[in-house]
Parts: sequence; C-alpha cells; structure tokens
Amino acid sequence: MMFFDFLKYYLKAGNAHSIHSPFIFELYTKIYKDFSPNPDFDTAEKVRSVLKNDSRLIRVEDLGAGSRLNSSPERTVADIARRSLKSPFWCQFFYRMIRYYGYKNILELGTSLGITTSYLALAAPDGKVWTVEGCENTLNVARENFDRLHLQNIHPVSGNIDLCLSDILEKSAPLDFVLFDANHRYQPTLDYFGQCYPAAGENSVFVFDDIYWSAEMKQAWQEICSDPRVSLSVDFFHIGLVFFRKGVEKQHFVLK
Ligand SMILES: C[S@@+](CC[C@H](N)C(=O)[O-])C[C@H]1O[C@@H](n2cnc3c(N)ncnc32)[C@H](O)[C@@H]1O
Repeated sequence: MMFFDFLKYYLKAGNAHSIHSPFIFELYTKIYKDFSPNPDFDTAEKVRSVLKNDSRLIRVEDLGAGSRLNSSPERTVADIARRSLKSPFWCQFFYRMIRYYGYKNILELGTSLGITTSYLALAAPDGKVWTVEGCENTLNVARENFDRLHLQNIHPVSGNIDLCLSDILEKSAPLDFVLFDANHRYQPTLDYFGQCYPAAGENSVFVFDDIYWSAEMKQAWQEICSDPRVSLSVDFFHIGLVFFRKGVEKQHFVLK
C-alpha cells in the first residue's frame, strides 16, 4: 500500500517552480534544500553510530501503534537505532528549521533513544526541549545520550502521552515547534493535535511523522490539513508540516 501511496505522492510532488507562497518557497529553497555541513550534525551522528552497535537487550513497552518490523517485547538498542529513529536527513531538516526561524520552545512526542531530541536541543541551545517517552527503559538510554552530549536544555518526561500531555503543556506552552512521533494512530494523533493547538502561535509549526504509515495516519493527516485553523500544510511523504500563519490563503503543498 505504501508503495502506491509513494508513487501517487511522487507523481503529484512539485519542486521550487511549483511554489507560489513566498513563505513555503523560502522554507523549501533555504532550509529543505540546504545541504551545508555542520559540526553539530557530526556530533549527533557519532552517537547514532554508537547506538547502532549497542547490543544491549532492553524490554520495550510501546504504548503506541508499535513497530511493523519488530514487535518483540525485547529489542537490542542497535535494532531500535537502525529501524525506529528519524533519519539524519529529517533530523537535520528539523535542526535547520529551528535555527532559521529562531524557535526556542520545542516539544517532541516520542523520544525513543533521543537522537532526534539531541538534534532539536543542539539547534536551540538557549531554548527548551520537552520530550515524552512511554517506555522507561528506552528513555534511560536516551538520558545516557543527553549526558554524553552534555545537553542541559532537555526536559525528558517518562509517561503515557494520553495521561501527561496536558500537564506538560501547562509548563511548556507557548510552543514554536512540536514533533508528533509517538502513537501513530488516528484518534491519538487528532487528540494530541487538538490538545497542542492552543499552545501554538502564529509562527509555530507542527510536524507529523509517518503520515502515510497506515490508513489511520493518512486519514488523520488529511483531517489535520483540512482543519480551518491550519493555513499552510506541506506533504513531504515521510513527514508533514502544518503552519498557522494568519492573513495567507489556505494552501496545501506536495513537495519532493
Ligand atoms: C518512532 S519512535 C520515536 C522516534 C524519535 N522521535 C526519533 O526520531 O528518534 C516512537 C516512540 O514513541 C513512544 N510512544 C508511543 N506511544 C506512546 C504514548 N502513548 N506515550 C508515550 N510514548 C509513546 C514509543 O515507545 C517509541 O519509543
């Protein structure tokens, strides 16, 4: 199913020439298409390499839709690092967005081993990154990584997002950047979106991971894009972005 979705996406997806919104044009040309090297990327990727060779076996408790590739309750850290984390490409895109727009208040739903979190924290050294993980053993490995990188601007929270999101939002709002990368199901995705929306400002972005991962995720993504509060939405297939900018015509972009 994903293959046909990808094909459909690919045939529809445009590039810089197809973008008529100055804001999205700038995002695409100056942030998405910027491949400049950065020492922070090397720092984070060194930790990813260590994790990919970490043979420790941990008991994982997934409160979300789980992994399609490995549903065993015991997984090696290496297996999680290889299959369940955002790739360097997307982590670096998030980093550049945070730097470009000067985002300071960041929330990540679904920490896993904390590689993406580390990128977010490196991008906003004067900001704060809240991150929530339901599996304590996984979060402990993430905490080791935050220590390894001496990152002090991360507030890791252990718990089920369904139960702790409102408390976190009380402390973390207003939010500039929210990454939804935990429970890849329809209702939780819409619920988390609805809960986080009041914390968003005119310049905030919400990033949804794996928008084509399942029929439920596709449905949730379509509904979020159609929400009248969303002004601009961008489909990059692997992730989707939504913005709440005022005074612009509601528009949806499919970009590669
Ligand atoms: C795809 S991984 C996150 C990857 C991470 N953001 C990255 O890019 O490296 C999803 C994580 O969300 C966690 N999760 C799923 N549902 C959750 C829930 N309801 N509450 C808390 N954590 C949850 C899982 O335990 C898993 O570690």
